[in-house]
Amino acid sequence: MAEYVKIERDGAILCLTFDRPEKKNALTGAMYLAAAEALITADREESIGAILIGGSGGAFTAGNDIADFLQFGGEPGEFPAFAFIKTLAASQTPLIAAIEGPAIGIGATMILHCDLAYVAPDATFRMPFVDLGLVPEAASSLLLPRRIGMAKASEFLLLGEPFGAQEAVRLGLANAIVAADRLRPFAIERAKWIAAKPREAIQATRRLLRGDVQEIRARIEEEARLFAGALQSAEARAAFAAFLSKPKPA
Ligand code: COA
Repeated sequence: MAEYVKIERDGAILCLTFDRPEKKNALTGAMYLAAAEALITADREESIGAILIGGSGGAFTAGNDIADFLQFGGEPGEFPAFAFIKTLAASQTPLIAAIEGPAIGIGATMILHCDLAYVAPDATFRMPFVDLGLVPEAASSLLLPRRIGMAKASEFLLLGEPFGAQEAVRLGLANAIVAADRLRPFAIERAKWIAAKPREAIQATRRLLRGDVQEIRARIEEEARLFAGALQSAEARAAFAAFLSKPKPA
């Protein structure tokens, strides 16, 4: 188990928990690789029927670690986030998200690849790619307008507007709001429900629901190429530096 990612079993459920609460579970390269590895293991392991994705300390994830963005060398293939995204989009195992607190950047776009998502009342989503001088990832530029319409997708991806639990449910991005103290047991119960169903029928139905995988994969690649280029830009590097030099409260 990698540092900052907890992988646990609860019967047929694999629980993947981002566990870096002091940094709001911001994702490092090692965390992406550990998470991708868990998804691959789940696909291979017949006894795993669903994956629960969550975060510890009252946060889902604040997205990619911004210090890691600054260190990125240039080729999309070198960036662990893209390996994770590709694995996530190709996962055969049902994915259930339990989201509390901030779900920023990939924390928000990940939901588009989950089959079911349950949110605590304080869940806050934001896709601030443009504000950081970046472009959307995880095929969100394709899947988000498809799911919620172009008008809302433009508010979230161009304006970077935040939205909460109620809006997520209203727009069909999440299934239900569940009190924070019941969120994880509730999501696990749903995950167990799916895991108990015939495996091949579930996998085939997921494939049908997802539609054209090639199209999604192609969009992930296109976004990754633009994203990797943008990471080197002066405007992105200035935005990262501004975040990292934010004064700490006294
Ligand atoms: N990368 C690196 N560090 C991060 C981080 C990130 N994405 N998000 C939060 N952190 C760190 C903060 O720097 C802070 O570290 P410090 O205690 O050493 O100063 C710690 O996590 C707590 O964050 P803080 O901003 O103090 O908490 P908050 O409750 O006021 O706000 C967020 C939480 C998530 C709203 C805010 O941290 C945020 O906007 N983070 C950046 C999100 C982002 O832009 N992600 C990239 C998307 S592409």
